[in-house]
Amino acid sequence: MAADEDALLAEQIAYYRARAPEYDRVYAKREDLRELLTQADDLPIAGDVLELACGTGQWTGALAARARSVTAVDASPEVLGIARARATSPNVRFDQVDVFQWRPPRRYDTVFFAFFLSHVPPSRLGDFWDTVAAALAPHGKAIFIDEGPAAVAREEVASDVRRLEDGSQYRIVKVLHEPGELTGELAALGWSADIRLREEFIIGTAKPRSVPVI
Ligand SMILES: C[S@@+](CC[C@H](N)C(=O)[O-])C[C@H]1O[C@@H](n2cnc3c(N)ncnc32)[C@H](O)[C@@H]1O
Repeated sequence: MAADEDALLAEQIAYYRARAPEYDRVYAKREDLRELLTQADDLPIAGDVLELACGTGQWTGALAARARSVTAVDASPEVLGIARARATSPNVRFDQVDVFQWRPPRRYDTVFFAFFLSHVPPSRLGDFWDTVAAALAPHGKAIFIDEGPAAVAREEVASDVRRLEDGSQYRIVKVLHEPGELTGELAALGWSADIRLREEFIIGTAKPRSVPVI
């Protein structure tokens, strides 16, 4: 039901707002995540980049080093505050945006999102990818990174109920996509995608299908 889902997505934003001061601990704790950050150098990031759900800016600096400009958006003002302090390159700007209620005001060469696709409810997948398409320039690419199916073994990652250090609990959306299935879902939505497993993670590149992925 739409009202229930709206409430769930609002709770998901509330969770990340409240979690902002704790968020970076996961990167401090997990070496595989820190190693994954180095993958940004191998991704086809170019031109003007839109980063969706940038969080505390863990990826933003690496994007800025490869991009002409980065526009990084997130729904949580608290994580944006941390990201602004972390990613200080002059070619980065931040905006507070609810991705599910937003149409991009311009087009970008690259649309990047890390650890956000798994928070998109299946019922919004088509609308979400329409938003990505609306943000892409004709030869632009979407690049995404997320937890893969193997993350199901990590209760703290796979669970759709999250608890903060103060004991407060929040419901969120968590969908662990399998590359083959996601490729098929994207094909049905008009995208051509190349999605690879890298240990517990998926790394994907996608283009609207009229333009082949290269
Ligand atoms: C798992 S974090 C990922 C953050 C960052 N991309 C990273 O990889 O570290 C998910 C992010 O999605 C943001 N978010 C949740 N719902 C959102 C929405 N509706 N619109 C924009 N951002 C949202 C949260 O505030 C949070 O920063």
